[in-house]
Amino acid sequence: MVAKRNVDPATVAVVDRVTTANGELVLRRSGGHFEIVSNGTFLMDTRDGASERLLVDAAVDTLTNPAPRTGLRVLVGGLGVGFSLGAALARPEVGAVAVVEREAPVIAWQRGPLAPFSGHALDDPRVALVHRDLVEWAFEDGDAGAYDALCLDIDNGPDWTVTESNTSLYGAAGLRALRAKLAPGGVLAVWSAAASPAFEARLAEVFGDVAVREVPVRVPRGVPDVVFLAR
Ligand SMILES: C[S@@+](CC[C@H](N)C(=O)[O-])C[C@H]1O[C@@H](n2cnc3c(N)ncnc32)[C@H](O)[C@@H]1O
Repeated sequence: MVAKRNVDPATVAVVDRVTTANGELVLRRSGGHFEIVSNGTFLMDTRDGASERLLVDAAVDTLTNPAPRTGLRVLVGGLGVGFSLGAALARPEVGAVAVVEREAPVIAWQRGPLAPFSGHALDDPRVALVHRDLVEWAFEDGDAGAYDALCLDIDNGPDWTVTESNTSLYGAAGLRALRAKLAPGGVLAVWSAAASPAFEARLAEVFGDVAVREVPVRVPRGVPDVVFLAR
């Protein structure tokens, strides 16, 4: 996700505009690139994706260092423009990917103009598309120990959620619920547009071992994107 971006309105065309249960979603095109806007807030675009790929790569690196592993089961949430999903499929260590997305238009766009940005990932037999709310899934009892990595990018970060209903995922109860979905030794990776010392402390309380990776952004004077890794 990208929180801030300067876009020249003269070069932007609306490709699709949909009202969902969670508000308005717009897909815009600017030159050869696309942007997703949620309730007037910039959500994601196709220009860079370095930190969205790192979200997955850092999790897989954590699981495969020092001992190599294969057949890893990875959950990616949400779909966005598909950079994180594409990164998961690009790793030979990954055997299966579940991608959880709440918004039907985002899935439709990924089957259309956004498909090249994930490498047409939804056509890959290793991918299971789960069209549902990730937060509701997290608090349910099923899927205990089912994943080696949970790679989550559904908000601008733990302190700036896209919808109020997402907030509970980042509290202690949400983190405990996520931990229960992980296999022994599994890793939780969380994307954020900014550092969050309070969230980092909560992760340490629930998981014990926490690392933070920063990725510089291209926006002038923008703060680095952050990937939290906990196990
Ligand atoms: C910033 S985008 C993800 C970007 C993605 N990492 C990529 O590489 O393009 C956030 C996505 O999460 C989805 N989302 C937001 N809240 C969600 C929820 N509670 N459950 C599932 N998906 C959610 C949004 O619809 C959006 O597609």
